[in-house]
Amino acid sequence: MSFQIMRALGHSIPTNLVERDAHKAALDIVQFAHDKNVLMSYPKDFWCTNQHLPTELEVFPAHGVSASWLPVDLGPRSLEEIYSLVINSKKIIWIGPVKFSSSKPCTVGTSKLAQMLCKQSQCECEITIVGSTACEVIKNESNSLSSFNVLENASVVWEFLKEQKLPGVMSLNRAYPFEIDWSMAYHDASQPLVVDIGSGNGLFIMGMAQNRKDLNFLGLEINGKLVRRCLDSVHQSGIRNAYFIGSNATTTFRSIVSSYPGELVLVSVQCPNPDFNKPENRWSMLQRSLIEAVADLLASKGKVFLQSDVEAVAMRMKEQFLQYGKGKLHLSHDQYNIRINGNAWLKENPFGIRSDWEQHVIDRGAPMYRVMLSKSTGS
Ligand SMILES: C[S@@+](CC[C@H](N)C(=O)[O-])C[C@H]1O[C@@H](n2cnc3c(N)ncnc32)[C@H](O)[C@@H]1O
Repeated sequence: MSFQIMRALGHSIPTNLVERDAHKAALDIVQFAHDKNVLMSYPKDFWCTNQHLPTELEVFPAHGVSASWLPVDLGPRSLEEIYSLVINSKKIIWIGPVKFSSSKPCTVGTSKLAQMLCKQSQCECEITIVGSTACEVIKNESNSLSSFNVLENASVVWEFLKEQKLPGVMSLNRAYPFEIDWSMAYHDASQPLVVDIGSGNGLFIMGMAQNRKDLNFLGLEINGKLVRRCLDSVHQSGIRNAYFIGSNATTTFRSIVSSYPGELVLVSVQCPNPDFNKPENRWSMLQRSLIEAVADLLASKGKVFLQSDVEAVAMRMKEQFLQYGKGKLHLSHDQYNIRINGNAWLKENPFGIRSDWEQHVIDRGAPMYRVMLSKSTGS
């Protein structure tokens, strides 16, 4: 991978180490790192072997590997630089060497790297080792693998890093219960619970939590960065009835909410992303299993609040909840209904607290399409 990144940065790379299919991805990575101001470091020198005299080894700077010489291992300057980065790191993912030859003299750099990681694993650094070669070297250098996350199958990790939905991970999400210490999350974990699915930047949850101290509020949000920011504002504001969990709500709602000690009284889904460019993903957050879990776990007379600025999205959500709600959910409109295109919607947000997305829509004078459902008593 380093070679592809170095090529994307404009260095000349021996042609046999160039993966033409990877060039676009490498350029994207370089651009992404540049946009985010992320430091990219790459090897500065290599041990190389002479293609005509394979026993001959010499160190070349990365930008000047002579023709007929082939990089086979990291050079001393590269190792020094990696060492200075490793000793200051708190989290390391090593996707191990895949291209280097494993013949004897060439494995020294790899084992030196493994030794550095073993040492660093003693210093509260979270280290993940990916790929069979790296795993093998770490096994040789370390007495115990328990201080590492070890993932031998590198291709699966690549898919995961590219944010592909892996069927295995999704089914594990469904099967394994989330363990949450609710008494750490809330001041009084027996209070009734409100869950906002796809809570975004958490403005709805935070506003509601300030207004209704008698309820607990939970935001489920797949974007970990947003969740960390929301949890920071919870801590800074000292609010003790709001909490956020970073998870795919579609697959984890049931396991998370079923362990809550109090009643579930309200679930909201506000402005889910309609991905119109990918019809197959268009309704990916709201799936039958999620709606069934909401219908099962909601307390009697509990409410479901759905809204979107896209009429087709709101309509589809309403139909899905009525279809998959196991006959337990029905529309609970009141006299404030308005009709748009012949369909009845709630005119106002009944909570008086707007989500971020809703606020932007209102600010630009566009309509919101809102529905409230209620769970039948006794079901
Ligand atoms: C358009 S934003 C709306 C955010 C917020 N509800 C609002 O109205 O301001 C949709 C949010 O849903 C989140 N999301 C999408 N799929 C999700 C899933 N499966 N589980 C949890 N959150 C999800 C996205 O990360 C995004 O923050």
